[in-house]
Amino acid sequence: MPHIQIKDFKELSFPFSHEGIDFSFIASNIKYPNEKLICVQSEEKNFLLQVKRVEDKWLLKSDKVTRVSPNYHIKNAINAYASKAELEILFTNLAQKQMHHAHKESALKPINFFAKSFPKAEEIWVEVGFGSGVHLLHQAQENPDVLHIGIEIHKASIEQVLKQISILELDNIMLVDFDARLFLEFVPSNLVGRIFVHFPVPWDKKPHRRVISHPFISESLRALKEKGTLELRTDSENYFAYALQTFLELNQSDFQVRKNQNIGIISKYESRWRKMEKNIYDISLSNHEISEPIKNDYDFSLAHNSTENIEQLNTQTIRFENGFIHFERIYGITDGGYLVRLSMGSFDKPEHLFILIKDEKTSYFPHPPIASKTNHNAHLKLKELLYG
Ligand SMILES: C[S@@+](CC[C@H](N)C(=O)[O-])C[C@H]1O[C@@H](n2cnc3c(N)ncnc32)[C@H](O)[C@@H]1O
Repeated sequence: MPHIQIKDFKELSFPFSHEGIDFSFIASNIKYPNEKLICVQSEEKNFLLQVKRVEDKWLLKSDKVTRVSPNYHIKNAINAYASKAELEILFTNLAQKQMHHAHKESALKPINFFAKSFPKAEEIWVEVGFGSGVHLLHQAQENPDVLHIGIEIHKASIEQVLKQISILELDNIMLVDFDARLFLEFVPSNLVGRIFVHFPVPWDKKPHRRVISHPFISESLRALKEKGTLELRTDSENYFAYALQTFLELNQSDFQVRKNQNIGIISKYESRWRKMEKNIYDISLSNHEISEPIKNDYDFSLAHNSTENIEQLNTQTIRFENGFIHFERIYGITDGGYLVRLSMGSFDKPEHLFILIKDEKTSYFPHPPIASKTNHNAHLKLKELLYG
């Protein structure tokens, strides 16, 4: 995680721009004022930096919820603030100012790119948790007419695969930094030819975090076109048995099971298991249904209202049918207004985001929740809490 340790933090007067980065405001945690957030815009990316006192030093780092990729945006923003405020740096893990690589970035799409208007192509394949990207890159090279969408939550893997896409000059891959379980909910129905889930984390101790689950399978079947396939590959006997059972629990299912199949490419994980002479299992589930189109035109706007009672919501959790809203932290903006850090939506796939209340406007930050039914229910609940 990009960060610097500094002797003293100096609060500048906002807004200002420095080294091509716009700094719009600073906000302090209403309970712990030594924890602050700085709102930053670098090119078209909006995100927050976190400032935190730790013993006799301060940390200036990326905020986890709004963290952006590629991380040169974060590094440049931290460097720019430190240079403008002339901070005394005790430790840094940032390299020198990094330049924008237009080609490298183009494959990485923000979630809103997909939420607003899903890309169109004759054939679309989706890979969930592409890790080192060996399989994704192989498929993209072998199938140039297919649009390959890679979903991953591990930033370092995304950076690494972006570099490879640039080196190989591939123009048929789009990457997205998002939880695949949430992403699938807004893929249009009957669109995708293949969904790959290769070597998912088995989560033996926390099964609710597994990618394969009833909701994930039904979303996949909905997103798959007729005869499209959901393809699981795993080395874990436990996960294989769990997935088989989960597929069998569907009302109707058509799947093929194979053991130790050669699929023409060996990923980093697979080569590790092969060396250990572990068995590899494949389950390929076929879709035969034509699904109804999804509703994704939910309204996530927030009206502006008095902020008199907002601080009372700090740390509160509100539960409702199939979901919750947790007001994790509230920050007061120095020049007036609030940033409220929330988790909301369903218990196993919550959204983490902020609401920004400033200049007589209230909106989600950095973007509205993804357009799913559960998130919309949570949004309606949030409106009730904010406006009565
Ligand atoms: C064990 S690795 C396998 C990587 C790759 N498929 C391979 O075969 O080498 C699992 C990958 O899934 C990613 N992952 C886990 N849960 C995810 C989720 N909900 N959405 C997207 N990616 C996820 C992890 O970050 C990790 O890179």
